[in-house]
Amino acid sequence: MKNIEDYKIKNLDDFNNQREMAANEPELFWSGIASTFQWNKKWKNTLKYDWSIPNTEWFVEGKLNITENCLDRYAKSNPDKKAIIWEANDPNEDFKVYTYKELLDEVCKFSNGLKKIGVKKGDRICIYMPMIPELTIAVLACARIGAIHSVVFAGFSSVALAARINDSSCSVIITSDGGFRGDKITPLKKICDQALKNCPTIKNCIVYKRTSEKIDWFKNRDIWWDDLIYGLPDKCDPTIMNSEDTLFILYTSGSTGKPKGMVHTCGGYMVYTAYTFMNVFQYSQNDVYWCTADIGWITGHSYMVYGPLLVGATSVHFEGVPSYPDWGRFWQVCQKHKVNQFYTAPTAIRSLAKQPIDFVNKYNLSSLSVLGSVGEPINLEAWEWYYKNIGKGKLPIVDTWWQTETGGIMISSIPKVTKQKPTYATSPLPGVNAEIVDNNGNLIEESSAEGILLINFPWPSIARTIYGDHDRYKNVYFSAYKNKYFPGDGALRDENGMYRITGRVDDVVIVSGHNLGTAPIENSINEHPKVVESAVVGYPHEIKGNALMAFIILYDKIDDNESIKKEINDLISNSIGPIAKPEKVIIVSGLPKTRSGKIMRRILRKFANNDMENLGDTSTLLNPEIVNEIKNTLKLLN
Ligand code: WT7
Repeated sequence: MKNIEDYKIKNLDDFNNQREMAANEPELFWSGIASTFQWNKKWKNTLKYDWSIPNTEWFVEGKLNITENCLDRYAKSNPDKKAIIWEANDPNEDFKVYTYKELLDEVCKFSNGLKKIGVKKGDRICIYMPMIPELTIAVLACARIGAIHSVVFAGFSSVALAARINDSSCSVIITSDGGFRGDKITPLKKICDQALKNCPTIKNCIVYKRTSEKIDWFKNRDIWWDDLIYGLPDKCDPTIMNSEDTLFILYTSGSTGKPKGMVHTCGGYMVYTAYTFMNVFQYSQNDVYWCTADIGWITGHSYMVYGPLLVGATSVHFEGVPSYPDWGRFWQVCQKHKVNQFYTAPTAIRSLAKQPIDFVNKYNLSSLSVLGSVGEPINLEAWEWYYKNIGKGKLPIVDTWWQTETGGIMISSIPKVTKQKPTYATSPLPGVNAEIVDNNGNLIEESSAEGILLINFPWPSIARTIYGDHDRYKNVYFSAYKNKYFPGDGALRDENGMYRITGRVDDVVIVSGHNLGTAPIENSINEHPKVVESAVVGYPHEIKGNALMAFIILYDKIDDNESIKKEINDLISNSIGPIAKPEKVIIVSGLPKTRSGKIMRRILRKFANNDMENLGDTSTLLNPEIVNEIKNTLKLLN
């Protein structure tokens, strides 16, 4: 039998062969990779799909349990191999290691705990925890018994948490008393208590003791983690799942206030995350891999839990933040655990780049071999800083484009195999059929292209639906372009076929009959040397149908606002055309952002529409104070 390592891309020929095979014979390609896993029953059809419904099924009628593939295989063949090296928030606290055998035992014990309180296959379990090993254990324990995990990032408020619990009617929530983040403690149990006042479906709240906070206790509902698992066996037979059974739900924000519960299934997700993890990071069996994400996001699900464990990797999991106890923490951890692959986000890189370079240079980073970036387009300045200071001008950087919805990485270079190009995600991976269409939806055949990114063929880890709302799934992803997946991003392709993601395009505004994407307008405003960041939204206009309002942040306060507005208009006229000039330019000191760093355009759109009150769900805002500031600025202008 073949091993997943046999599908590791070793050179450019390999890459081209795999890409060709995946394009010409996708079923053969993916079934070959799938055959390297442990299945309880082989699938009938490799792929069944009809994107007019839309419906996608992979490895149909195959039976498996993903945790057997993540844990049991390696606990048997290599029991002492490290699965997780857990680094605490406080550098003085000892790090913890879980071998594959230990992790399997802990997962089994907790699986038995969940069974003890009546959790069954198909039940939805909310997990709201800090970055401690028990979070990973809870996730895998759900998967072991076929319960559907819905991890909610532990930075979300009680209102946001309650909305997510209720949307998928979870019966159990798993949390901790508190969570350490830098020099702060997040009172997680308290936030849960607040949320659970409005969550009638929750029967039990399992609490792991981490910070020893004083907490309230509801004795018919709350159970300590340690009490739950006390005396339980560390063996638990995995529940056999159908390939297309739901593995998890993960919420992501949409263009309305209501979050979308993206549904991922077992078989396809397993095959795709393992294959992409191994290839994009060029992971070798003795490497130590570190992704700095939180398991509350898809990056954590796919490239901290499932992907790495599926190939038997050793990963660092970090509880803390990059700035604590000082801004050298990431590099100190890299040195301490001799990290080989390091995967982080552009926003982290930008804040790290602002600190004195001593924080980097104090540490020996010679173990590093691959650097990664994910979550948003990486700007040239940040890319160069990363390349020069962390990669010492030598290491490949993988700029990985994907989404909660895609489950795994879609566009990325392969270190030392394919070419990289700063600010370009570069090549669609084998099996990813990307294309670019113009604003009228016409396919651009030439290599050089700029327009809207589409994927025209299913890949194994595509989200199958939005929990409880298949119509919305169809409308958002499969309606704008017939039988194609629309990710909502704009892209540029160069003469060599390399892709650069230019930003979201679903904020299209029609001004005087012209389709205008707000992303390219923002890009040209941002070219102004005095501009830090901008956001452009549309609002109804008597004559033009719609007009544009630009919110801009400047590096420094200036006296002459009028001349900067004129310069911005000139830039836009030059790069896009006078039609794209905003009607109003508003100078602000900040923009409303989600915790993952995305601008909440929805709120700005309300403001532009002169609606100052009905802002919808603002519970996920990182900086709520900015909302009032912008309101006041606008009132002064009116
Ligand atoms: C959106 C998806 C992918 C996991 C974390 C974010 C943007 C993501 C890149 C990249 C340019 C990127 C896109 C995408 N994005 N990676 N390498 N270059 N843009 O997952 O929260 O579902 O967000 O993030 O706009 O659609 P997410």
